[in-house]
Amino acid sequence: MADAQEIERTSSPNALFGEDAFSRLDEGDDRVFYSLDRFVDHLDSLALATVEKIIADLVTEDDPAILDLMAGWDSHIPEDLHPSRVVGLGLNENELNENKALTGAVIHDLNKDPLLPFPDNTFDTVVNTVSVDYMTRPFEVFREVGRILKPGGLFLVIFSNRMFPQKAVKIWKESGEEERVLLVEDFFRESGAFEKTTVFVSKGKPRPKDDRYAHLGIPSDPIYAIYGEKKGGDPSRGARPKVTVPYGEPLSPEELEKRKRAVKETLSCPYCGEKMRKWAVPDNPFEVTWDNDYMYICFNDACPYYVRGWDVMYRDGNRGASYRLMYNPEKDCCMPIPVPSPKALRESIID
Ligand SMILES: C[S@@+](CC[C@H](N)C(=O)[O-])C[C@H]1O[C@@H](n2cnc3c(N)ncnc32)[C@H](O)[C@@H]1O
Repeated sequence: MADAQEIERTSSPNALFGEDAFSRLDEGDDRVFYSLDRFVDHLDSLALATVEKIIADLVTEDDPAILDLMAGWDSHIPEDLHPSRVVGLGLNENELNENKALTGAVIHDLNKDPLLPFPDNTFDTVVNTVSVDYMTRPFEVFREVGRILKPGGLFLVIFSNRMFPQKAVKIWKESGEEERVLLVEDFFRESGAFEKTTVFVSKGKPRPKDDRYAHLGIPSDPIYAIYGEKKGGDPSRGARPKVTVPYGEPLSPEELEKRKRAVKETLSCPYCGEKMRKWAVPDNPFEVTWDNDYMYICFNDACPYYVRGWDVMYRDGNRGASYRLMYNPEKDCCMPIPVPSPKALRESIID
């Protein structure tokens, strides 16, 4: 991904990504594609709850005016939020009419006309949920969002990994999840309208048992939220709160310490209680990492320590990794061991 600052632009920023980066398999009229009513959930229930919590945590204005950009029948507005207005901009009239959160609706094809039909400085918040992958002119749309937001207003872009493949743009489909985050960050940066963006990640949680895809054995839909404030906000307002999506049993420091001391006897993970697996330390021709031949590692994919680790690592700049809890029997201590995927390290399990 190119750094927008370093490249001298002579034409549209779209040109940076190659001629057909924002092309789609189905280049037909979007209004025709979306004329079919889709009163479905685009995410599983846990991921939907995460979307609501992100909005609840970040939209801190009293009575905010909100634009739901690319809206359907559900705007995911939390019950406790009391907006002065919520406008939905989308393509399906029936879905917008059924959307209980909306106080107004606009049918507008962003790919035909990326100019938003609102005056400057209109909204406190613009939310775009699971739809950025369908924008064929994202640079223009993000610039427009910068125009219609009030100074200091929030633009919140949330996405997952599901899509209508015929309508998602080529570059989105060819990118991995981490690259998609970089892409959205580029859209923000290139607009020149926003302060530095922040990323929140929720992934690796177990899929709800009653979900229609539960039989596939895949985790809950991942949620990536990228957000930034429009430049020119009131600095005395302070920073927005951090997103917090609680997961797992809250443990007091004392309880955690007690459980860690017990690991020697129980060989159970102090965070989730599951038995840890005996794991052979791999041969390393470059350096001696640990003296002992084996460790114990918690391989529970639902362990709160591991699940929360994706976002912690993201915030620390280690994108695309989490960590598992490892117990060193020689030293009788617990420590994190980084993992880039759920499968990592499993090949050395020896029990
Ligand atoms: C996957 S749905 C997501 C709907 C909603 N944001 C949500 O969270 O459930 C994609 C939405 O993007 C809207 N959309 C797709 N292409 C569009 C376009 N060219 N202009 C405006 N809206 C569009 C559709 O109307 C559709 O409701």
